[in-house]
Amino acid sequence: MARVALVTGGSRGIGAAISKALKDQGCTVAATYAGNDEAASKFTEETGIKTYKWNVADYAESKAGIAKVEEELGPIDIVVANAGITRDAPFHKMTPEQWQQVVDTNLTGVFNTVHPVWPGMRERKFGRVIVISSVNGQKGQFAQVNYAATKAGDIGIVRSLAQEGARAGITANAVCPGYIATDMVMAVPEKVREAIIAQIPAGRLGEPEEIARCVAFLAADDAGFINGSTISANGAQFFG
Ligand code: CAA
Repeated sequence: MARVALVTGGSRGIGAAISKALKDQGCTVAATYAGNDEAASKFTEETGIKTYKWNVADYAESKAGIAKVEEELGPIDIVVANAGITRDAPFHKMTPEQWQQVVDTNLTGVFNTVHPVWPGMRERKFGRVIVISSVNGQKGQFAQVNYAATKAGDIGIVRSLAQEGARAGITANAVCPGYIATDMVMAVPEKVREAIIAQIPAGRLGEPEEIARCVAFLAADDAGFINGSTISANGAQFFG
């Protein structure tokens, strides 16, 4: 039977590539999005993948949304916590709001996404939890105290979940993308982006599909002994 996969932030950027890769692997996929209705309906039109709108930072919304997905598509076997935002600023300029927004979406959002599906995975003795962290969670980044903290937190989450889920057939792993050609990276000022690319031995940004490849690998039925690990895909920028 086809596995059911939930991908948060799954209609754009890295998330869209993940949704498509899991579909190609035979999964029934639900992709969530926060606000961009137009991009979501275009994505559904092009791929046939259903999209659902909710804010991952809100627990009640996430729980209700997940219940709806399960009602329509069946129990969720694979959850990819991918939704994330940046609010970059040097620390001396970072506002409490910038800190909180990033924590609410990138870190609490992972809790809100995984917690509602966890009991069902335990009951059914199968689950794949994949959290999209970042190279900047591994190495830290100028102007990203907030973002780096949440992405480092993701690694703590999967290492803990891995231990809790192992005997219930659930794995939890993180993927750490480097700089990938998405709207998020394109929002970095051009000069800064050029300087970043100069630090990547591959000499280029990554492609969303190169991250989706890692997720599809970890989501497979026969990936059950890979648990609590971190896969880096960053063009040799950093060895975390
Ligand atoms: N290292 C050291 N110094 C740096 C720096 C860096 N990486 N980036 C900027 N600076 C310096 C600048 O040269 C400048 O120095 P001077 O004042 O001496 O000229 C200073 O820091 C910046 O000062 P400003 O007060 O003008 O900065 P600002 O308030 O305008 O903020 C910024 C600018 C937000 C930091 C902007 O440069 C920026 O967006 N930087 C990129 C941060 C980044 O890499 N974000 C990653 C986004 S992609 C992502 O997050 C995806 C992923 O997972 C990989």
